[in-house]
Amino acid sequence: MTKPYVFITRKLTEEAMKPLMEVADVHIWNEEEKAVPREILLEEVKKADALLTMLSDKIDKELLDAAPKLKVIANLAVGFDNIDVGYANQKGIAVCNTPDVLTDTTADLTFALLLATARRIVEAAEFVKNGEWKSWSPLLLAGHDVHHKTIGIVGMGKIGEAVAKRATGFDMDVLYHNRSRNVAAEERIGASYTSLDELVETSDFIVCLTPLTEETRGLFNQESFKKMKKSAIFINVSRGPVVDEDALYQALASGEIAGAGLDVFAKEPVDVDHPLLTLPNVVALPHIGSSSTETRGTMMELCCKNIQLVLNNQQPKTLVNKEWGLSVK
Ligand code: DGY
Repeated sequence: MTKPYVFITRKLTEEAMKPLMEVADVHIWNEEEKAVPREILLEEVKKADALLTMLSDKIDKELLDAAPKLKVIANLAVGFDNIDVGYANQKGIAVCNTPDVLTDTTADLTFALLLATARRIVEAAEFVKNGEWKSWSPLLLAGHDVHHKTIGIVGMGKIGEAVAKRATGFDMDVLYHNRSRNVAAEERIGASYTSLDELVETSDFIVCLTPLTEETRGLFNQESFKKMKKSAIFINVSRGPVVDEDALYQALASGEIAGAGLDVFAKEPVDVDHPLLTLPNVVALPHIGSSSTETRGTMMELCCKNIQLVLNNQQPKTLVNKEWGLSVK
């Protein structure tokens, strides 16, 4: 019997791939520095029963139409805005993601970015390494306090709640805005639900964790930045297109807000001459929210497991298009 054909768009650890390799014919895009070119993905998908994708791979109608045998897409991320889930579902393809296993790791990174931006950690570390530290002085690289301030979380899912939990350890007041109220989170953490306007106007730290959808595209724009306090710090660990980057640049450059910590950009990798990267009050990271060796390993294993389950006609552990689940039950 021929083994199912699996294409993986980035090299994963041997350990994570081993069980899948025992039951499937696994092909991998092995280059470290470069994502799989579109034309190669289009060729591979013709043969594939399963795809293991990265958030940077665009899985659109053209690609799905080129995939006559495809049964499952396992995306190595909790977000799945890179996949046309509706169309995959129409085609009977299971779409899986990696929720839960990355919650605490992503919340840690979010809080680290918030602290780094507020306390100017990156600037300060460079200052020492560049030999610029000539003497101690009272206001040397003075940043903003985090403790006892107000944090406003936009997108109170699991990661939002984990960030809120960390914030309570810093004696912060927690506001949140979400499509629907998260009463359980309110009870667990003492977070208060507010309108987006109120959150933006009153928070010292505005943390964006909302998924990218048609409703959230461009959610943070010129108007929102104008409403923020001059001392506000904006943190984005969701997806770049949730923010109008030109408006953010203007707000930062003109002193309308105090700083920004960005793990994500509209175009990734962000161009090295992007205006946002010229600003001293911006801390920029290369989309590493869930990137700890432990968590990435667990995410890889979960993706491989989901593929194995679907290829075995079983329900995957973490399915995005729940309708698919019902149809195989
Ligand atoms: C995800 O999993 O969607 C995150 O963006 C990873 O950092």
